[in-house]
This record gives sequence, C-alpha cells and structure tokens, in this order.
Amino acid sequence: MGNSLGKLFTVTSFGESHGRGIGVVIDGCPAGLPLAETDVQKEVDKRRAGRGVASTRRMEEDRVEILSGVFNNRTTGTPVCMIIWNKDTDASAYERTKALLRPGHADYTAFMKYGGFNDYRGGGQFSGRITAGFVMAGAVAKKLLGTIKVETLAHTVEIGGIAAKTATLPAVRKVDATPLKCADADATAKMLLAIEKARGEGDSLGGIIEGIALNVPAGIGEPVFDTLEGDLAKALFAIPAVKGVEFGAGFAAAKMRGSENNDPFVMKRGRITTITNNAGGILGGISNGMPITVRVAVKPTPSIGRPQKTVDIEKMEDVGLEIVGRHDACIVPRAVPVVAAMLAIVLCDHALRAQLIPEVIK
Ligand SMILES: Cc1cc2nc3c(=O)[nH]c(=O)nc-3n(C[C@H](O)[C@H](O)[C@H](O)COP(=O)(O)O)c2cc1C
Repeated sequence: MGNSLGKLFTVTSFGESHGRGIGVVIDGCPAGLPLAETDVQKEVDKRRAGRGVASTRRMEEDRVEILSGVFNNRTTGTPVCMIIWNKDTDASAYERTKALLRPGHADYTAFMKYGGFNDYRGGGQFSGRITAGFVMAGAVAKKLLGTIKVETLAHTVEIGGIAAKTATLPAVRKVDATPLKCADADATAKMLLAIEKARGEGDSLGGIIEGIALNVPAGIGEPVFDTLEGDLAKALFAIPAVKGVEFGAGFAAAKMRGSENNDPFVMKRGRITTITNNAGGILGGISNGMPITVRVAVKPTPSIGRPQKTVDIEKMEDVGLEIVGRHDACIVPRAVPVVAAMLAIVLCDHALRAQLIPEVIK
C-alpha cells in the first residue's frame, strides 16, 4: 500500500499500462476552483508520446475525462476523479516474454512483492504511463498555486552527458515548444544526435531535469519529517526511472567550504533574500522565499534493442532476452512535465497546510 501522496491535498494514483485506464483521485481539493477538462488536457499533452526522435512508439490519444468533483465548471470540494482510458493496448509482445525478467525493470521486484499476481503487461503500474495521472493532478495543483502566484517549471539540463548552458527563466517557460524540452538549442542538436546514435546501437540514454518553483513564500514545510525537501524528494522518486534528487548545490555542496556554500542574506526591495541560492530555496526543511531548485537524475530507458542476459522465472534458468516491444531511446523529455507536476502537487499540499490557500476559492 502506498498509492496516495499528501496530507491535505491527497493524490491517489490508480491504473496500469495495459488495463482499462489510468488516473488519479484528488481528495482535499478546495471548492470553487474553475476547472475544465481542457485545463488538464493541456498539461497531459505536454508528456504525450509520438513527438520526434526521443519518443515512444505507443501512439494514443490520452483524452482526459473528469468523472467527479466538478460542477458548473468549478470544483465542488468532493474528490476529483480523473481518468484516461487506455486504447492502444497491444500486449502480445509481453505475453510471449512474461517469464523473462527485463533488466532495469520492476518485473522481478513486483513478482516477489505481489506473488506473481501483478499485471506484467507493459510494466503494469510501474509503467511510465502512470505519470499521466501525476500530470492530471499537477494540472489542478498548478491552478490552485496560481491563486497565490506560485509557479512550477521544469526543463532538460543534460542528456547522455551533454549539458545545456544555464537557461534564462523566459527560455525555460518556452521549452514545451522545443524537441527535448531543453532551452539550449545548440545542446539540443547534440543531444538529438546522441539519442539517434544510441537508438541505432540498440541502446538508450539518461539525463538530468531541473525543476524550479517560483514565488514560494518563506515559511512552508513541516519539520521534522514532512520537510519540504523530504516531501518533494518522495514525490519525485515516485516518477519511474528517477534515481537521484538534489536540491540547490546538492552533491556539489559536499566539496565546498562553508564560506562558499552559505548564502549571505541581504535586503532587497524591503524583503530578506539571499545573494546566492546554494540551499535551493530550502533551509531546515522550510522554504526561505528564494526559488526552489531541484535536479532530478533520470536513468537510461531500461528497454533496449540489444540482446541481454536474464533469468526465466518460471524455469529458474539463465536465458537470453530480446525486447521487441515499444520503447523510448530517452525518456527524459517526457518526464519533464511530470517533474513540474510533482513540484506543484507537493507545494499545493504544503500551501494548504500553511493556510495560504483557503478551503473555498472565491
Ligand atoms: C514518462 C516515462 C516514460 C517511460 N517510458 C519507458 C519506456 O518506454 N520503456 C522503458 O523501458 N521504460 C520506460 N520508463 C521507465 C520505467 O517505467 C522504469 O524505469 C521501470 O518501471 C523501473 O522503475 P525504476 O527505474 O524507477 O526503478 C518510463 C518512465 C517515464 C517517467
């Protein structure tokens, strides 16, 4: 059990890759928020398959339906249930190889945990497809955060070891129009070539996504266990393929001196701010009013075209595996809107806990 996230804005994820559908239920969404299916669809379309070189071969419409919690175009305060029905669900490739544990996937761990009763088709609930539900919940969270001017953004900063140069905020806001959701056009060209090369070699690439939250007021976060870092990291690690999360200077801080890492305080237009932001906007698990910055490491796509060694769990013997199903050579761009959604979900929960957002939006 562990499919719900958040204390006051509680998001429950459901569904499997090749089942009837995938979606979320949000309990605790304030009443009175204007909400239409198009608001949610707009966000879901950002993570859609089928765009450019890095994308999966699974092509489907991903049309959002709001089943409950909205009346006369406003939230009612009751659970908001949103679903996308699965349509393009050819599972034949998975049937043939269902006993073969795909390296880098959750096949083995899920088998051990659920005694083999798990839906293995397309990775079941471990599929990247469940993140469409995260993005649906994120769309609602973003609208709620908009009422207090908080904005969450994300962009690709590295793929296959090719790093983008530091981006300006206006450029980050426009990454949805770029092929890899990266603000650096020169780096994008190199990343695209690297992805194509890896794909040609039957391989895959990983990368790094930066998440940013702007205008988060100082003082949100619930020490000692529900710190902002802790809750954000928990949400980000729920994204399949995420293997690392660091805030501000992150692991680089381990190599710094205190004199380099400390962010000096300074008054700016009547407000306390810091000159640098090595803390990534969080001190003591509480927001300090600076932008929250987080870097998320995404591993290379586990499904690769090359023959791999594995074990047949029915026969309990070593075998060779060739994956013929649909897979992305790099999933980083598709995970970018998911990172922004996760930031929004957690910040919305904490904003409600800090009573910055009321129970009824007027
Ligand atoms: C948006 C998104 C799409 C994904 N698509 C694929 C895919 O096409 N092929 C694949 O092998 N893994 C894909 N993954 C990653 C796997 O779901 C994930 O690596 C696997 O379930 C094991 O979980 P873990 O990497 O978190 O340990 C995707 C992940 C995300 C976030």
